[in-house]
Order: sequence, then structure tokens, then C-alpha cells
Amino acid sequence: MRMPLIAGNWKMNGSLALVEEFGQAFADVSLPVNVEVALMVPFPFLDAAGRALGETSVTVGAQTLSDRPSGAFTGEVSAAMLRECGTRLVLVGHSERRTLFGEDDAAVLARVKAALSERLTPVLCIGETLEEREAERTESVVLGQLESVLDALAPAERARLVIAYEPVWAIGTGRTASPEQAQAVHAAIRERLARYEQALADGMRLLYGGSMKADNAAELLAQPDIDGGLVGGASLKVDDFLAICQSAG
Ligand code: G3P
Repeated sequence: MRMPLIAGNWKMNGSLALVEEFGQAFADVSLPVNVEVALMVPFPFLDAAGRALGETSVTVGAQTLSDRPSGAFTGEVSAAMLRECGTRLVLVGHSERRTLFGEDDAAVLARVKAALSERLTPVLCIGETLEEREAERTESVVLGQLESVLDALAPAERARLVIAYEPVWAIGTGRTASPEQAQAVHAAIRERLARYEQALADGMRLLYGGSMKADNAAELLAQPDIDGGLVGGASLKVDDFLAICQSAG
């Protein structure tokens, strides 16, 4: 059985006050025991989030990392630094990193390897643009992004990933993939994983991301190949995020 994972991605939003609010709210509620919850906060909030959420079961994560271990790379943050701050998960290859910051498949792979080298769990984000979907290239784009990482990893490394399918056209647009559309791509991803190893396909958690909200999470999460969500906007409102976490249980 794959344990559902609900991960909030704050992107470049939030504040220390919001970190505190989440810490208090999560301390006061009981989350479903069969659901893992993570919050990907901006770098400056990692330490505070670790402390505010320390008594809860919520895992703190980061949104990106450097592909280098250390050195003269002004502004960058290494995997070891994240590890030292208590981070356990890190997003890699989010579409905003790919499109706004020029991270191509090679850059994404280098960051996945950097994360693995420090025992961080990379949450590998993949997804097609609207243009690619309309050109019926969804599967080739998504599976190409997936294979460009998996082909370069050892079997034991592959098993340490989480995959997040985020159709770019659904991110921050309020336009969610229908449960059927999302399930179809998740099933294709799982089928491709099975070509590497059936156990990899059976164990890999596949998250859906793209305008997941409190009112559409349950039907997305009910799909057989959707094992959780990567939540942007709705993860900034504690009640909405809690509701999504509850609906995964
Ligand atoms: O990583 C989460 C994401 O990109 C989805 O954002 O705001 O559409 O939930 P949003």
C-alpha cells in the first residue's frame, strides 16, 4: 500500500506569522494516521517551520536546491544545508523552475542526484503545457521528463523518488485536470515505471498538482493511481489545506 502524501508548495509566498499559524493549527488537529503531510516553504522559513511543526507529524520541505555541494555559487543552497535545517523532501523540476529559471532535464537530473546524495527525498515534478496537450504530446512530454531522470539512476535510487504530475495549464489557473484526465496520465506514468521494475511501479507515489482545492481533492484522490497532491494556492490557507489533508485519509 502506498501512503498518500499531501504536500503544500508555498512558492514565494507566506510569512513567519503564517508559519506560526500552521504550527498551531496542525498541533490542534489530528490528521488521518495513514496520510503523510509536508509543507514546502521558502528557504528563510525552513528553520522556523521545523520548530513550529516539530511537535506535529508534518514534514518540512524545500522548493529547490543547488546541484553543487558547496563553493562560490552566490545565492544557492546545497542539499547538505537543507538536510542540516531539518528538511526531508525537496521539489525538483517544478514547471516554474523549468520555464522561469531555465532548468532543463540535465539540470533537473543533477538536482535529483544532489538531493539523493544527502538522503533527501526528491519530489520530481513533470507535466505538459497546454500547447503540448493540444498537440496530443502529453504522454511523450511527461514520460520523456520522467525517463531523462530515471534512466540515469540506479534501481535503489529510483525507488527513493516521489513523482508529481502537474499539467502546466492547470497550475495557478483554477483550471484543474478532470479526475479522468489526471488518472489517465498517472496510469501512463505507472505503466512506464513498470518497465523498469514492477516493484518500482507498485511502490512509487504519484502526486497530482494543479489547482487542487478543498472541493475537488476528494475526487482526484479517489483515482487509483493518484497517491496524493502537490498543492499550491490552497496550501496558503490553513483551513483549505487541512481539509485537503483530511480528504486524503
Ligand atoms: O506545486 C504546486 C503547484 O504548482 C500547483 O499550484 O496553485 O495550482 O495549486 P496551484
